Amino acid sequence: MCSTMRALVPLLSLFLLGGQAQHGSDWTYSEGALDEAHWPKHYPHCGGRRQSPIDLQRTKVRYNPALKGLNLTGYESQAGEFPMVNNGHTVQISLPGTMRITDANGTVYIAQQMHFHWGGASSDISGSEHTVDGIRHVIEIHVVHYNSKYQSYEAAQEAQDGLAVLAAFVEVKDYPENTYYSNFISHLANIKYPGQSTTLTGLDVQDMLPKNLQHYYSYQGSLTTPPCTENVHWFVLADFVKLSMTQVWKLENSLLDHQNKTIQNDYRRTQPLNHRVVESNFVYLPSQGEGHWASQKRPKPRIQPSSTCHAWLRAA
Ligand SMILES: *[C@@H]1O[C@H](CO)[C@@H](O)[C@H](O)[C@H]1NC(C)=O
Ligand SMILES: *[C@@H]1O[C@H](CO)[C@@H](O)[C@H](O)[C@H]1NC(C)=O
Ligand SMILES: *[C@@H]1O[C@H](CO)[C@@H](O)[C@H](O)[C@H]1NC(C)=O
Repeated sequence: MCSTMRALVPLLSLFLLGGQAQHGSDWTYSEGALDEAHWPKHYPHCGGRRQSPIDLQRTKVRYNPALKGLNLTGYESQAGEFPMVNNGHTVQISLPGTMRITDANGTVYIAQQMHFHWGGASSDISGSEHTVDGIRHVIEIHVVHYNSKYQSYEAAQEAQDGLAVLAAFVEVKDYPENTYYSNFISHLANIKYPGQSTTLTGLDVQDMLPKNLQHYYSYQGSLTTPPCTENVHWFVLADFVKLSMTQVWKLENSLLDHQNKTIQNDYRRTQPLNHRVVESNFVYLPSQGEGHWASQKRPKPRIQPSSTCHAWLRAA
């Protein structure tokens, strides 16, 4: 992205808002002069025809038996120090270049960072970016990678085949605490304000992802935040991460944005598919009922948290 534009946008917002300074944060989801409806004005790619997120309509997804499972390497438990920052839009963890994905064609993607999108605002608890048959899930996890044919993320971010994102949904029911998330969630208190960072000692991304890492949806899209570059190969996992209601509540209520407002509903609305085809490497069998998958690993249907559950969360 052009740095002049980055400098100009807050300045413009400053004038438009009559002096309400937007401390270094240019775009927003729903507030101010550069909400998501206005992203294309300043970030033209955001108005493109290959945007993300999208609604994954399961009856229209094309099963492609040639799509093999992803080969994830270096995702297991690793020692070291991993910076975790509140960037005013989400919490982001820096990942080591030893974490890689090899896709079905043998393209190797190197991990750069992971971050989350969630809901939590009063009328809408769910905050995933992709939806499945119109259903928005509670949280969406993005592990962002760049194509190893480029020297760095910076070099890849403008390239047409530059990026890949491994995405996963979180579901919440009355599950017990997911202890693989305990360390991460306890560190949120250290980064309440934008720009603050903390350090995770040790990291196991594999354990923070769904059990079934083999079944995915795949399509060509974009970054879901400005500059919305249309160079992302998306791999959206079909299986879910399970968190307790308390864990979800903490993610939804721990961080503040540049206006000192709680970061909630930090997701972009779904974008038109525009003739793109979403592929999957597993078979969905709608005739056998909602939520029935060819996968033996996920017999349970996915259920949205009810409004009762929502009220419970708010009261907690
Ligand atoms: C996965 O990738 C690693 C590193 O590229 C390679 O050594 C390994 O053989 C691959 N495993 C499979 C099952 O393809
Ligand atoms: C593999 O390459 C083919 C042909 O270029 C392409 O259509 C397909 O989307 C690629 N698949 C993956 C998983 O990259
Ligand atoms: C946010 O709160 C902190 C701590 O109270 C304060 O220092 C800062 O000026 C506030 N920022 C805004 C934009 O209100």
